[in-house]
This record gives sequence, C-alpha cells and structure tokens, in this order.
Amino acid sequence: MARVFSGIQPSGDLHLGNYLGALRHFALDQYEYDCVFCIVDLHALTVPQDPEALARRTLEAARVHLAAGLDPSVCTLFVQSHVHEHAELSWLMECTASVGELRRMTQFKEKSTDQEFVSGALFTYPALMAADILLYASDRVPVGNDQRQHLELTRDLAERFNHRFGATFVVPAAAVPRVGARIMDLQRPTAKMSKSATSPQGTVGLLEDPASIARKIRRAVTDAEVEVRYDTEAKPGVSNLLAILGAATGEDPVELAGRYHRYGPLKADCADAVVALLEPIQARYAELAGDPAGTAAVLAEGAAKARAVAAPMLEKARQAVGLLPR
Ligand code: AMP
Ligand code: TRP
Repeated sequence: MARVFSGIQPSGDLHLGNYLGALRHFALDQYEYDCVFCIVDLHALTVPQDPEALARRTLEAARVHLAAGLDPSVCTLFVQSHVHEHAELSWLMECTASVGELRRMTQFKEKSTDQEFVSGALFTYPALMAADILLYASDRVPVGNDQRQHLELTRDLAERFNHRFGATFVVPAAAVPRVGARIMDLQRPTAKMSKSATSPQGTVGLLEDPASIARKIRRAVTDAEVEVRYDTEAKPGVSNLLAILGAATGEDPVELAGRYHRYGPLKADCADAVVALLEPIQARYAELAGDPAGTAAVLAEGAAKARAVAAPMLEKARQAVGLLPR
C-alpha cells in the first residue's frame, strides 16, 4: 500500500479551508493508503510562539484531526516532537541542502520580510520538512500549492543523499493539488482563507459557534452586481460562496449558481450548509475535549507507531553517512 504523509502546523486555529482542503481528504485517504499524519509542532517553533498557546493548539489540532474522522486504528496520528528522529534526520538534511537552495525558498522570503526576529530555523525549515517526509518512505505528500517548492527540495535532497551515500530514501512523488483546495477569505476573497488573516471576520474556525459562522457568511464580501455566477476572476466573493456551498453539499458550484438569483438566499444556504457540515465535528470535538487522557493515549500510541518506522530509517541514514552505530 502506498504511504501518504502530511503535516499541519499548530500555529493557529484550524479553519474551514484546512478542513475542505486537507482534513476531509485525509479522512478518505486513510482507507486507501497507509497514512501518517503529523502535527508539526517543531515547525511552529520557527517563529516566536507563546508556550501555553502552542501546547493548547497542538492538543486542539490533534483533537480536530480525530473529530474530522481520522481513525487512529486505521492511520497514524502523532505529534512531531514526540518522535525525536525528526530533529535528528533534520540535521542530516541540513548537511545535504545548500545555502543557495534554502535561500531560494519563497516561503522563507515571505515569512522573514519585515520581521524583527528571524530564527536560523526558519531558514532551515525545509530540511526538517524533508526529514518528516523521508523518515516514512512516503510515496505521496498531499500539500497545498504553497508547499510545492518545499516538496521539490525534498525530492532533490533525497536524490542527492541517495547518490552520495547509496539508496536510502524513497523519493516522494509530487502530490497533485486536490479539488476544492482553495477556500478564500470571506472579507478578502482574492486571498486564501488563512490562520494569519488580517481580519478574523474572513475566516471560519472549525470550532466556532454556529451563530458566529452564520453571521460571517451573511456578511461575506460579494460585489455590486446582483447576478449569481461562478467566475473566480470577475466575482471572487460570490464564487467562493458557491465553492464552499458546493464543497459542503457535494454539488458543482457552476450548477449551483443557476439555482440562485440573489445573493441573500445563496448566503443563507451556504451558512446552513457549513453549520450542518461542522456540527458533527464540533460534537465529536466536545466529546474528545472531555476526555484529555483519551487523546493523550491516542497520541502516545501514534508516536510509538511512527517511531517503529522512523527509527530504522534514521539508523539506515546514520550508517550511510558514516556515523557509528549506537
Ligand atoms: P496550513 O494552514 O497552511 O498549515 O495548511 C494546512 C493544510 O490545509 C494544507 O494542506 C493546506 O493546503 C490546507 N489549506 C490551508 N488553507 C487552505 C485554504 N484556504 N483552502 C484550502 N486548503 C487550505
Ligand atoms: N510546511 C508545511 C506547512 O506549512 C507543514 C509541514 C511540515 C508538512 N512537514 C510537512 C507538510 C511534511 C507535508 C509534509 O503547511
């Protein structure tokens, strides 16, 4: 069975875009592939984090994964820092990557511009991501467009390492972007819905209360026309509502557009559909939140399963470069 690996940073509250673009697909993938899902807390540390908030968000992210339907008896769900092999292989990847390659990463340029403090780890971040992926001999890595460059670098590092030290790593296949992979901000529909949005009004949190979700969708920015049409260029706001409604109900946004003649009813239906979509996730989340020991046990088991794969791979890489066996 092909192996899938993906990671989500616990750097902010997970939102509707994360669910429709990633989590929902993970829940389906787990029955088709050997799936490993990782909450990448070490990656989150590359920018300043409040310790309490990081701990809380890491736990919340794990619960959201479970609430979204990941079954820990089918897939592997764990926290990156619980498996120290990630940090260790990351060192070998840093030694494999060149400064020139790392400097070309557009995410580093974006995240380091206008910052008071830029950590060394923000620069070497893609080496840790490569380690995440290569430790599990991953075949497929589902990521958004913004991560494509990091995935390409991972492939280059794997190939370079294999060439220098002998066949060690599986070179992961470039992952095809998923359908419905771009949910836009409700207030700025030309920008992706994101954890770091300028206004919280544009982002629907997965754990947000239904009244607040409905209010945000009703107040979503549209345009000065009245026609409901799916046209992401000319009508980004309306198209985003159609895309969200379509993703929530399994219908085609273009077909949906034909059914509406005014924005009001489209917004009302979109709000209802999103609330209905998130309701069972929120209910399951509340159950999990009431059982912290249960989630801790799931994560401990996940880390043990992950380590069983990661440890022999790290050992293989260590020996390949000439580190003495321990
Ligand atoms: P991030 O929130 O950037 O760490 O991304 C975590 C996962 O959610 C990645 O697989 C992204 O591709 C996906 N994702 C993030 N934002 C969106 C969005 N606005 N629409 C669709 N998918 C998204
Ligand atoms: N860098 C990814 C992001 O910001 C998160 C990530 C870390 C990841 N390690 C990964 C994604 C390994 C896929 C595979 O979204």
